[in-house]
Amino acid sequence: MATRKHKLWEGRFAAATAPIVEHFTASIAVDKRLAPYDIAGSLAHCHMLVTRGIISAVDGKRICRGLGEIEQEIADGTFRFDTADEDIHMAIERRLTEKIGPAGGRLHTARSRNDQVSLDLRLFVRAEIGAILKHVTAFQKALAATARKHARVVMPGYTHLQRAQPVLFAHHLLAYHEKLERDGERFADCRRRADVMPLGAGALAGTTFPIDPEQVARELRFARVATNSLDAVSERDFIVEFLAAAAILATHLSRLAEEIVLWSSAEFAFISLPDEFATGSSIMPQKKNPDVAELVRGKTGRVYGNLMAMLTILKGLPLAYNRDLQEDKVPLFDTVDTVKGCLAVLTAMVPRLVVHADRMREAAADSFLLATDVADYLVTKSVPFREAHNLVGQAVRRCLESGRRLEDLPLKEWRELSKAFGSDLREWLSVDAALARRSAGGGTAPANVARRLRGL
Ligand code: ARG
Repeated sequence: MATRKHKLWEGRFAAATAPIVEHFTASIAVDKRLAPYDIAGSLAHCHMLVTRGIISAVDGKRICRGLGEIEQEIADGTFRFDTADEDIHMAIERRLTEKIGPAGGRLHTARSRNDQVSLDLRLFVRAEIGAILKHVTAFQKALAATARKHARVVMPGYTHLQRAQPVLFAHHLLAYHEKLERDGERFADCRRRADVMPLGAGALAGTTFPIDPEQVARELRFARVATNSLDAVSERDFIVEFLAAAAILATHLSRLAEEIVLWSSAEFAFISLPDEFATGSSIMPQKKNPDVAELVRGKTGRVYGNLMAMLTILKGLPLAYNRDLQEDKVPLFDTVDTVKGCLAVLTAMVPRLVVHADRMREAAADSFLLATDVADYLVTKSVPFREAHNLVGQAVRRCLESGRRLEDLPLKEWRELSKAFGSDLREWLSVDAALARRSAGGGTAPANVARRLRGL
């Protein structure tokens, strides 16, 4: 029942680990992704051990050479990942000792896997935030380019998914640009707090060796060194923050995805999907489905789930390290891959959406979308807004009862409702005028939107 493979920690054990336990506790299949960070961390640690005279320069050289070769083996795909090694940290150390002999056993001086894994995760999160920020910026550029391309397209703006007031399609797209801007800020902010070098915490209490964590921090370009060892090895809040920032980002992408699904339906027909970004049905020959947008929407569930998983793993964990923490990697890696995938596909798809400007304008014109403007007109004639609202409501009712549009009501009828109505009302009953008037604050006025676009 027992394996014969030697463990790095086997000293106190009389019997070997049961295979089922080995299999159950191993994380190497997942955490092998941390290998480049593990090696970078080990190199910095080794350099510091040499500087401080904790290991000899000769051993340090051997270790660094060995780590370099291992890095190459991993890159070439010749490195053997073995479940018996448990995790990537032990796999690399095992291979190092195979290569350079007993000197390999000196690398782990003044270090524990507990501070080592924290370091690897911080390096990973830092690097991935950099990559995600690039994706966010690329998607923002795609949104801005699409907005520019359709700068004059008018659509109905919605509240409660009921047509409400006309807006520019570009204004709608730029709303997502703003959301993405905050998403980027959240990731950058999270990166600031993850940017702490935890080595020196050891297993939990610190180390007896005269280490120099500042040197390691400098080499790995960390902003700060951890100031409490128990905190350093027990905490994953930087992962929670990362997953939370990703969950909010996923919410934004999912809302846009939902709109793409709606807009591409026959009911809206505001856009068509480019063929390359749609899929067909195995049974209905006529179908063209918005699967990309649906999957962006659907994957949000996983991204939320990953956040909940991480919070739940941490809840109730006594200090300091507990093996539960090993479960942090699957949600973290999955979220990284998922949000990068979603951002990349939307960046490619959004600029290629086929926009049906006529259909959008028709939807923006065919309704009571200018009712608010008529009320605003009355206010310019000194009617209190609440009263104006009521009067226009009555006009809307008249129109509904007689199958007319606001524009169809003759001035005589308007004046039956209020003597404040005059012939200049015409100037207010136009979609373009309605857009142009909304120039205050972040309104949809074309001049505003154009200014915003120039600043991007
Ligand atoms: N694979 C472990 C993890 O990801 C590394 C730290 C293990 N430490 C320990 N004492 N068992 O959390």
